[in-house]
Amino acid sequence: MAHTSGMWVATAFCLCLLNFAGTCNAGITSKYVRKLYASQEIPKEYFPSPPGFNAPEQVHITQGDYEGRSMIISWVTPLHPNPNVVTYWEAKNGHKHSHKHRAHAKTTTYRYYNYTSGFIHHATIRRLKEENTPFKPYMHRYHVPYKAAKSTSPLWYSIKRASAHIIVLSSYSAYGKYTPQYNWLQQELAKVNRSLTPWLIVLVHSPWYNSNNYHYMEGESMRVMFEPWLVQNKVDIVFAGHVHSYERSHRISNVQYNITNGLSAPVKDASAPVYITIGDGGNIEGIANNFSDPQPSYSAFREASFGHAMLEIKNRTHAYYTWHRNQDGERTAADSTWFYNRYWYPHEEPTSSMV
Ligand SMILES: [Fe+2]
Repeated sequence: MAHTSGMWVATAFCLCLLNFAGTCNAGITSKYVRKLYASQEIPKEYFPSPPGFNAPEQVHITQGDYEGRSMIISWVTPLHPNPNVVTYWEAKNGHKHSHKHRAHAKTTTYRYYNYTSGFIHHATIRRLKEENTPFKPYMHRYHVPYKAAKSTSPLWYSIKRASAHIIVLSSYSAYGKYTPQYNWLQQELAKVNRSLTPWLIVLVHSPWYNSNNYHYMEGESMRVMFEPWLVQNKVDIVFAGHVHSYERSHRISNVQYNITNGLSAPVKDASAPVYITIGDGGNIEGIANNFSDPQPSYSAFREASFGHAMLEIKNRTHAYYTWHRNQDGERTAADSTWFYNRYWYPHEEPTSSMV
């Protein structure tokens, strides 16, 4: 009996090995194959000619040059070569009667076997105005003192407020190596004087640590780029928006990841900032209430509410932070913690220990 069961074990082990060998290198090939049959002809009645004698039909619009300042308008008139002109004008706010332009078309016809085409027209409208200024409404509405911070763009800048040096970064501008924002941040961090401004705070739009499924990991490439600098410079807190919800992280960093070392999870780090996602000012899209489950260990507190927070900097070592849930006109303190300054007092805060 003992011998027989031994055989079973050996056989089972072999099968396991085979199984493993059979699956470990391969991805999954779906067994679904689309059925092969000719698709049905869509009846001609589904595409009626537009009403009116010789009305233009089969209108097609495509870009007319390399730069994107011309458009080619093509259309067919079935019975007569006219109309063969496109009339166009500039859309202006409040100005109904802008100067009108006309572009004449080249007209062709062709025959193919027993088919005779209608009159095919192609008109190119040129020298159109481009609208390609990014963040135009933001730039017009919000003025910031970026030149005073030696920045070349209002999308990233810094200010000193009382005992805090606050750096604002742009998640939607280039931040790769040697880009203007990258160069500016490198120089700006070198300028921070923790004696004059003990607290160092960074603002970004898309959070770097966010366990909400809404906008999950959208800040990841920026985190990879700048997180080592923030940890080296002992940034105290990073505030982000974008996710319409609230979340506070522990002091963690994830700067070891290099693809081959297998170290891809955030670890406890006394030099790292606390990441606060505070995109909870309210938004037409509604609340982001779909958190990942289970809650990752880097996430200290999260709540799908709208609200606001207050950061009270008491001195160069201690700041008291409270997040208030806004509900039915009530102001409820739902999350609070002491922050210890990373430069002057880098001890573990009582409420920020890893779970
Ligand atoms: Fe956003």
